[in-house]
Amino acid sequence: MGKISVICAKSSEDLGRRLAKKINGNLVKTEIRIFPDGESKITLKGNISKTKSIVVQSIYPPVDTNLIQALSLISKAKENSSEVITIIPYMGYARQDREFLPGEIVTMKVLAKLFKGAGTSKLIVVDIHSLIGLKHFKIKSKNVSAVADLAAYFKKLSLESPLVVSPDQGGKERAKEFAKELGTEYIVLEKKRDRKTGKVQIKTKQVDVLGRDLILVDDMISTGGSIINATKFLKKEKCKRVFVACTHALLINEAEKKIRKSGVTKIVSTNTIPGKTSIVDISNTIAKAII
Ligand code: R5P
Repeated sequence: MGKISVICAKSSEDLGRRLAKKINGNLVKTEIRIFPDGESKITLKGNISKTKSIVVQSIYPPVDTNLIQALSLISKAKENSSEVITIIPYMGYARQDREFLPGEIVTMKVLAKLFKGAGTSKLIVVDIHSLIGLKHFKIKSKNVSAVADLAAYFKKLSLESPLVVSPDQGGKERAKEFAKELGTEYIVLEKKRDRKTGKVQIKTKQVDVLGRDLILVDDMISTGGSIINATKFLKKEKCKRVFVACTHALLINEAEKKIRKSGVTKIVSTNTIPGKTSIVDISNTIAKAII
């Protein structure tokens, strides 16, 4: 059997390269041209294995462009390889996993059909927003946690009586796991989001965080609203420093600047989305999930 092909487009080039090295695969790069009307023209730069291919592509903005590129790569890989594994380190659309308001389309269901139809037989994602999203996929799927990698980074910092904080109930298990890794405690805030405007509010009345360094743990930061609201609340409760650990830092509309202004000392994210804050490499954890 020849080497496994690791095919990556632009959104996950660095991560794809690291993965290929870790699994001793053959990296197949892609050349992408975006036409003036927004269409992607994709050309593969290398040969694809007859037996197994891995496609790596995160679906962050431009979301639909990166999505169609992922589907195209899967389709091309399937023309050559008998097995195609798809790695979507950041799964866009994952927050649209159920019908919150009547008439809403559950886009994760649509994606599930598209990925299967394009030819993938196994999907690997990292800290998907909720496991409900994966239930729509009728192929083998696996969610990999970045908590241990993120926590390893925080273990190296000298923190004052650290306390892990989840900004909402949905992140409770993540915070619990993170706190376990650090050998400390965790608390969970109550967050309310207006389903129509998207605005968030912290409903928790009081917490005991006096003089402690806090680590706000979340799966993703989009506009920063959740983190900013939580930080303002925690600062009022007289905590010491606030750090943020998140898997996917989208940081839309100058979110990073706004988060820092709210009083956050440092934002630490993984390289599922490359950027200034993505200092934790997740390739080793993904590689273990492939084998
Ligand atoms: C929501 O439940 C997620 O876990 C994140 O907290 C949220 O999606 C982050 O979005 P934003 O940064 O826009 O508040």
